[in-house]
Amino acid sequence: MIKAVTGTKDILPSDIPRWNYLEKTVQKIFASFNYKEIRTPIFEETALFARGIGEETDIVGKEMYTFKDRSDTSLTLKPEMTAAVVRSYVEHSLGAQQPLIKLFYMSPMFRQERPQAGRFRQFHQFGAEAIGSKSPLLDAEMIQMAYEILKSLGLKNLTVKINSLGTPETRENYKKLLKNFLEDKKDKLSEDSKRRFETNILRIFDSKVESDQKIIKDAPRLIDHLDEESKADFEVVKNQLSKSGIPFEIDPALVRGLDYYTKLTFEIDSESVGAQTALCGGGRYDLLIETLGGKPTPATGFAAGIERILLACENEKSFTIPEQSIDIYLIRIENELESFGSELAGKLRKENLSVDFDYLQRSVKAQMREANKLKARYVLFIGGDEYKGGMMNLKHMSTGEEEKISIDSIREFVAKLRS
Ligand code: HAM
Repeated sequence: MIKAVTGTKDILPSDIPRWNYLEKTVQKIFASFNYKEIRTPIFEETALFARGIGEETDIVGKEMYTFKDRSDTSLTLKPEMTAAVVRSYVEHSLGAQQPLIKLFYMSPMFRQERPQAGRFRQFHQFGAEAIGSKSPLLDAEMIQMAYEILKSLGLKNLTVKINSLGTPETRENYKKLLKNFLEDKKDKLSEDSKRRFETNILRIFDSKVESDQKIIKDAPRLIDHLDEESKADFEVVKNQLSKSGIPFEIDPALVRGLDYYTKLTFEIDSESVGAQTALCGGGRYDLLIETLGGKPTPATGFAAGIERILLACENEKSFTIPEQSIDIYLIRIENELESFGSELAGKLRKENLSVDFDYLQRSVKAQMREANKLKARYVLFIGGDEYKGGMMNLKHMSTGEEEKISIDSIREFVAKLRS
């Protein structure tokens, strides 16, 4: 038997109502902040992500699904959306039409990570990117938008963590400080952190290894070495979050796994998802548009993992979905009436009713069982003496009441059902 590939998952019909509920909630809130949807292809040229996310990141270094197509072009299934949205922004000169463009998306993403609860190889994100403004108020709005979505899904155990990574110059200066501090402790670092010491020293803060944590906790902190502008912007974000009633923590170790960030970064964590606590993450990326061939343009955004959020919602029982039902189930008493039943189902559907009908030639009893399973509001019996007299029996499933209706007056009958 061929099974789904490790780290991928079918979203079965029984899961769909929860996904739809989340999607509708997300769309409603994005619309209320005036974000417009964008859809980009599932794969892009590999260079886009390598350049956009950074060669030294884990995503580019070891997690991308990269392949050569038949014309020998290196393509990659998108591991995230920011680089793809920026590519589209530059390619279509979206900035020329609107100085500040606000976009949102929902899409599958692909990363070859070690699968575990809340971590998949194909997963889904929704997210937003606002391109064109350097206002830190927009960073605060981004956090507010993400927070409101999670709250609207009924989630409670949320922690908003913020940090500032400053400008690239600040960061370069700081990296020297950090390097000096770690130089004589380097040998005690884990293998991963030793590698990061050489390639991407800030990511040592991401290490979960206890001995690394012990060493790094006394290290100088980037947040204490920010340039004046980054410091002032960070104050604005903090004040605005307080004014909006959003509780937050400052986490100086929040360096994020993508290289494009400048100034503000943030994550919203949940206690309800086990090891993978980050429901969403984002921040400002003022240099990415330039890196990808556009004019220097400031931007900010975030993305959230749908599987993780749904897991948190399930664990917190944060929302319930109303039971799925249909309006009418047609029960055919005699098999010869199959064609008539199918035609009638079509007519009723044209009246905007949800209708189902048995195509398995099952007994009346079995059809009734099916109607109950589908939680049909009404059952319409076709056949018997009623049918010969141009009538049908209608059963109201909630009360058990039955009434006769005329085959020729479907319209009136539908109107009555609605009244
Ligand atoms: P990210 O932190 O890499 O950021 O991913 C955002 C969210 O996607 C994570 O917080 C997590 O919920 C979910 N996620 C990531 N990897 C997986 C996985 N393997 N399985 C399940 N869920 C996962 C970004 O992708 C940036 N593009 C965010 C951004 C937008 N920054 C600025 N604009």
